[in-house]
Amino acid sequence: MKIKQNIRLSEYNTFKTGGNAKFFCEVKNEGELIEAIKFAKNNNLKFIVIGNGSNLLIKDEDYLGLVIKMSIKGKDIDSKNDVYTIVSTCAGESFDGFISFVVSKGLSGIENLWNIPGTVGASVVQNIGAYGTEVKDYIVSVEGIDADSLNKFIYKNENCNFGYRESTFKKNKNLIITKVFFKLNNAFIPNLEYPALKDYFLDKKNISIKEVIKAIGKIRKNKLPDWKVLGTAGSFFKNPIISEKEYSDILLKYPSLPKYLAETGFVKIPLGFVLDKICGLKGFKIGKVGLYEKQSLIIVNYGGASYFEINNFAKIIEEKVYEKIKIKIEREVEVI
Ligand code: EPU
Repeated sequence: MKIKQNIRLSEYNTFKTGGNAKFFCEVKNEGELIEAIKFAKNNNLKFIVIGNGSNLLIKDEDYLGLVIKMSIKGKDIDSKNDVYTIVSTCAGESFDGFISFVVSKGLSGIENLWNIPGTVGASVVQNIGAYGTEVKDYIVSVEGIDADSLNKFIYKNENCNFGYRESTFKKNKNLIITKVFFKLNNAFIPNLEYPALKDYFLDKKNISIKEVIKAIGKIRKNKLPDWKVLGTAGSFFKNPIISEKEYSDILLKYPSLPKYLAETGFVKIPLGFVLDKICGLKGFKIGKVGLYEKQSLIIVNYGGASYFEINNFAKIIEEKVYEKIKIKIEREVEVI
């Protein structure tokens, strides 16, 4: 494994921002990962593990530590019964590649997560979710290396503290995921509860998994920017989870605000709706940064915007939302 120096981080994240990494390496197996952590420790450096960089906002100043790009590959069928199949996949696999693999084996469950531009490891860290499916519902266990002790860890699903875009691994960056075990269905039952997907199929019967994947691809293409063309990290903010009382107060002024289920006493509200229909900010732009014309929850770098500009823009959005509905919104992207 080669440790490189002064690597431009803007080439390693979909928002296309960031200064240089003082040190950078790509790890292809557990041994290399341990070697990289030891290098950071021996040289008193901070370190960070990245996947495809599709949920990051990287600062303009240089990162004075070691950036470790997770590139451990491999996927396999582990075991099978009449109903489920356990499949393992390494953290550096692309999530889409993993979906293609399981679909080719006739397995289902995670197909609604099609076209999310991340790696398997990152998808677990932030418990990705889309179109009525969350990755946590298909995870059996997560393996990795604890950078503190350099020992291997195995966490069962119930110990991962999964929540809405949350997990133990998001809070504790010393727990570095290397491999994930998924429990997938042998029989395909489409999950069409999400309104856009339900509308797409209307009353169609006998829908195949390939048709669902095609539908998700089309829906996403119509709403989300192509990260290969525009700088973006997808949803920039989380959908706020607020109390029922706060919700009914907002409703007095804005009666059409939708809500989704959350834990007892709370509801989740679509911030995209708030930014668009309540704040009138769809397509709002300052310089090279703006809210995407077709989906207000997404901040776009229209070319050459810095972290500084994006961060300032996000602060303005946060203030505008607070002015209108008195809710403090949280960011979904991780800042490095
Ligand atoms: N809406 C508007 N205007 C907008 C955007 C949305 O009125 O500009 C309304 C929609 O009509 C809908 C509601 O807001 O009634 C929710 O919008 P949408 O279904 O597009 O989903 P979202 O809440 O904005 C979440 C995830 C996305 C995921 C979609 C689809 C978060 C933070 N985001 O977005 O995930 O693809 O649902 O399931 O939970 C990501 O995490 O990066 C991401 C893209």
